[in-house]
Amino acid sequence: MDSSCVATSFRIPEQVLTSSGQRMQLLGFGTAAYPLVTPQVAKQAILQAIKLGHRHFDTAYIYGTEQPLGEAIVEAISLGLIISRDELFITTKLWCSNAYGELVLPQLRRSLQNLKMEYVDLFLIHWPLSLKPGRYEFPVRKVEISPMDFGSVWAAMEDCQRLGLTKSIGVSNFSCKKLADILALAKIPPAVNQVEFNPLWNQKKLREYCKANGVLLIGYSPLGASGTLWGSSRVLENEVLKEIAKAKGKTVAQICLKWAFEEGVGVIVKSFNVERMKQNLEILDWSLSEEERKRIGDLPQSRGCTGESFVSENGTFKTIEEFWDGEVGLHFHSKK
Ligand code: A2P
Repeated sequence: MDSSCVATSFRIPEQVLTSSGQRMQLLGFGTAAYPLVTPQVAKQAILQAIKLGHRHFDTAYIYGTEQPLGEAIVEAISLGLIISRDELFITTKLWCSNAYGELVLPQLRRSLQNLKMEYVDLFLIHWPLSLKPGRYEFPVRKVEISPMDFGSVWAAMEDCQRLGLTKSIGVSNFSCKKLADILALAKIPPAVNQVEFNPLWNQKKLREYCKANGVLLIGYSPLGASGTLWGSSRVLENEVLKEIAKAKGKTVAQICLKWAFEEGVGVIVKSFNVERMKQNLEILDWSLSEEERKRIGDLPQSRGCTGESFVSENGTFKTIEEFWDGEVGLHFHSKK
């Protein structure tokens, strides 16, 4: 890559994690690819994203992209795209098979090795459950799921922060109830809950709960994660969103991202395609009208990412409703 053509052509607005004062771009770059891509493809996509101005990257132990992210950052520094790792906000996550008190710190150390870093900015519990230790695969084997011991896992997450291996800690895919369980036992409260967030699942209740408790909600699947195992095309194919996009001369993806910005919610968007990466950044110098916002706000609400892979008749979580403590949306119909 030619470092002389480095252009942060788009200024991505930032938000502040109140717990730590860290700044992070409102538009994070997601690295969960499905179908899986080679490490080289992931690395090139991340380098391209840095070149376009992205400074907030989201990965996870289970994504297999910690290593390419680390390599892309080393190369970005050597190319002069950034001066140091400190310019970036990096999130990684604890995989469920490491969700045991004594396995948390060893996983974070392995993640840091993969990332070639001394610290991450945010370390999240990926899902509120444990899996048989040693299993690193997705979809998971349902018989290997067990309830997580929140007390010992959260205490280990706190140790990770105390040791300076992560600046902040948080959770992902936690309902209001499960977040309350963590808050009740936390000495260091979670800074973030990263959850699905898009016009068809706007997390109204959880957002209010998070706000009232000083937890920052960050959204994943802002476009509905089309083409992946955990998402669908239902957001990008939504007729109301398509009508709004057509009338504005924008794409549905841009409408979704603009809407999230206007709702004040930071999101993680994934594209490894350079044209779509650019498109996803072109959302700053225009706005949605009040009427358009109302039409989006009135869309029927239901989860797209249901957590179905964690649910089974005789398992720890017997239904999708139980897994999310009832927070599935009025228009949700379990496939059971
Ligand atoms: P690709 O990487 O080929 O661009 P989400 O951010 O909600 O998780 O969605 C990610 C999915 O949406 C990926 O499959 C990604 O594919 C696709 N995608 C990302 N940006 C756009 C866009 N602007 N238009 C259409 N699809 C997009």
